[in-house]
Amino acid sequence: MLRVGVLASGRGTNLQAIIDACNNKMINARVVAVVSDKENAYALERARKHGIEAYYVDASDKEKHERKIDEIFESHGVELAVGAGYMRILSPWFIKRWYGKLINIHPALLPSFKGIDAQRQALEYGVKITGCTTHFMDEKPDHGPIILQAAVRVKEDDTRDSLAERILKVEHQILPRSIDLFEKGRLVIEGRKVKILPGDSWLEKYSYPDVFYSEGY
Ligand code: GAR
Repeated sequence: MLRVGVLASGRGTNLQAIIDACNNKMINARVVAVVSDKENAYALERARKHGIEAYYVDASDKEKHERKIDEIFESHGVELAVGAGYMRILSPWFIKRWYGKLINIHPALLPSFKGIDAQRQALEYGVKITGCTTHFMDEKPDHGPIILQAAVRVKEDDTRDSLAERILKVEHQILPRSIDLFEKGRLVIEGRKVKILPGDSWLEKYSYPDVFYSEGY
């Protein structure tokens, strides 16, 4: 079973989606440690409720913060680290150590709307379609090789929150699926591209009618 370590700064609904997918045997994985840079992040509470080791790691000193995360993940034998709403930029040192086994979810179709509040950026820009992306993290924020994407329609009367909510539901699908593909050894990084080796599909099993999923979902 793949040992997953999760980084989260907020309420942790993506973390919950991963935990649920593990419990429902949708993925052959187990969350073994959750780390947050926010002491009161609800993500930590969710982890504890499920008997998962949860750590608040102070981030006032970035280097110490990342060394501690590394130590925690190493001590739990983490094989895949997942950014699930972790709102910090990791330093090249950490990225290098975890490259190829460090993935992230972003609430936009990268490379559009990188950074903070991508849903608001998309709405204010006036795009008609946005979505979410999972990718391997590299040294530039929201930049590494893309694993999966899913497109979500922007509605005429959307607010930032209604749009974010619809995207979030899809994040909860593509993030566990990305972990699943990793666990099955189906992700091959070739430069900027991630080749997805043939195998099963979640399209028939878990998809929403209005959403357009990239190959591999
Ligand atoms: C999610 O929408 C995630 O994509 C986003 O933060 C939210 C966390 O929600 N991440 C980023 O914007 C990273 N740049 P959650 O805590 O409920 O999972």
